[in-house]
Amino acid sequence: MDQASNLRKLTEGNTSLKLVPTQARTMTKIIAIASGKGGVGKTTLSVNLAIAIAKAGHRVLIFDGDLGLANINVLLGIIPKYNLYHVVKGHKNLKDIIIQTQEGIDIIAGASGYSQLANLNDTQRNNLIKGFADIDNYDYMIIDTGAGISSNVIGLVMPADEVIVVTTPEPTSITDSYGLIKSIVSQTKDKNLKIIVNRVRSAIEGKKVADRVIDISGQFLEVQVENLGFIFQDEEVEKSIREQKPYIVNSPRSKASACLTRITHTLLQIEGDDGETEGLAGFIKKFFSFIDYRDKEMEERAQRDLEEEELSELDGESDDDSEVEISNSRKSKISEVKE
Ligand SMILES: Nc1ncnc2c1ncn2[C@@H]1O[C@H](COP(=O)(O)OP(=O)(O)OP(=O)(O)O)[C@@H](O)[C@H]1O
Ligand SMILES: [Mg+2]
Repeated sequence: MDQASNLRKLTEGNTSLKLVPTQARTMTKIIAIASGKGGVGKTTLSVNLAIAIAKAGHRVLIFDGDLGLANINVLLGIIPKYNLYHVVKGHKNLKDIIIQTQEGIDIIAGASGYSQLANLNDTQRNNLIKGFADIDNYDYMIIDTGAGISSNVIGLVMPADEVIVVTTPEPTSITDSYGLIKSIVSQTKDKNLKIIVNRVRSAIEGKKVADRVIDISGQFLEVQVENLGFIFQDEEVEKSIREQKPYIVNSPRSKASACLTRITHTLLQIEGDDGETEGLAGFIKKFFSFIDYRDKEMEERAQRDLEEEELSELDGESDDDSEVEISNSRKSKISEVKE
């Protein structure tokens, strides 16, 4: 299918889906955008993909899960007043902090919320679960994560319904993508994994890089990664960032926009067949169980370490004991000889 007909299809989808939301979900599907290496284009992709999905008639929420800089709002040129921190502190309801943008997507702004979220008591957790259940009227929630495999990132990736791994053709980025996939697979083999190759110079390069990640993941991790497509290296992307206007809106005819439109089309087509999700309340519940699991695992590891320490300590003592025993038996032997 060519670019123009793809665009037409999405525009048609826009009008018809808005009037009759045939693909509307009863619960929000959660898509995490992640990468092994930093700076590969996750945030730019999150914003533009969210807008493209919204243009196709879906309700989309972005959760800024990057704990570093609050990137999403910068790309959209907005300054959020409240973020998740205010919810966790009990100063605001979750629905009150959601920012509606003129691009048609909603945002939960980033904050150093993860560590706060990890330390909530049961009542606070329940408030947040209820908060997420209350706003479960989106078709998709896109989570923009930070780079790498820190527990902050994995904690947000694991509860998602699917994960889009972003890579560039750089060898280090490819290797780190594989590293990320490997750490996800070490937790579960059931995760729905997809790959997008960003900043390619040709379609062939995009296909080659995706195939490489897919082949290695299949061979060594026995996991199937789906190819969602590629995005060209495009000056319009850089310009759109400078102008704080997403390229899918600012330069809809750019090469990058054509690629993103194709990716959105592929994604929505796949999503149509695969509607399983437990929604936003399910997401946050799974997030908490992941934290608890991690804590338990760390406790057990500490316990194991302690036991090992104790064991070596005990070994040491038993050595001493045996020396004592030997010296005692020697003593008795000596006394036997003497007698
Ligand atoms: N397709 C593209 N063509 C040209 N430049 C691009 C493209 N995609 C991303 N960039 C450039 O890469 C930079 C980094 O992008 P972005 O901030 O989205 O990466 P990131 O993966 O979110 O980074 P981090 O890991 O720090 O969160 C952008 O500022 C932009 O200049
Ligand atoms: Mg980012």
